[in-house]
Amino acid sequence: MVDRPSVEVHWHNHAVSRQQREQQRGHAGCVVWLTGLSACGKSTVANLVDHKLHSMGVSSYVLDGDNIRHGLNASPEMLRQTHGEEFAKRFGLGFSAQDREENIRRIGAVAKLFCDAGLIAITAFISPYRIDRDRVRATLAPGDFVEVFVDAPLEVCESRDPKGLYKKARAGQLKGFTGIDDPYEPPLNPELVLDAANNPPEVLADQVIQYLRQVGKLGTK
Ligand code: ADX
Repeated sequence: MVDRPSVEVHWHNHAVSRQQREQQRGHAGCVVWLTGLSACGKSTVANLVDHKLHSMGVSSYVLDGDNIRHGLNASPEMLRQTHGEEFAKRFGLGFSAQDREENIRRIGAVAKLFCDAGLIAITAFISPYRIDRDRVRATLAPGDFVEVFVDAPLEVCESRDPKGLYKKARAGQLKGFTGIDDPYEPPLNPELVLDAANNPPEVLADQVIQYLRQVGKLGTK
């Protein structure tokens, strides 16, 4: 198989600009990047923000770890069934550091497209490595990457354990689980920190909306 040389791939400017799309919608596009441990509440908050924005007439969309790992970032086990062994090995993603890096790179690229389409992309991935999140930030214009640390201590997340994965990790049945035997690097300068141990998700979602309003992302909405 011959890889296509990247020098022969050229970027095309769109006939409709981002500014035109944002003007039509009455609000700006951006990426709201939620990061935090498994079971810290990322998905719940993301979906509440999405719902609230939708009711306000703001176009948004949630990209969620568990869902994206069923499609765009499917596991090797899933791809093996549809695409065969070799393909699955090459493109399937698990939870090694390198696979998480690629997971976040792909999501970052998708979120950037949403942003360019004038939408608010809300992402809910553990995204444990600082460098991977910073790389996504670097692909976006200043102000377009809103990093939100969904802060709940390990003990709290572990006591929730909705999928029983912490229990499995503690029992040694699941290797490389974030927070147990794999690292989580909290953001150093996030746009927003949500105290997810002491507030209900509704309150946290309102804090995100308030921030977006403050920085002018919600325009006339
Ligand atoms: S990330 O680290 O690459 O950002 P992502 O957010 O996509 O992770 O997926 C995390 C979800 O996958 C967790 O909420 C959990 O349900 C599941 N999961 C399965 N194995 C692991 C693991 N080893 N570490 C963390 N999460 C895991």
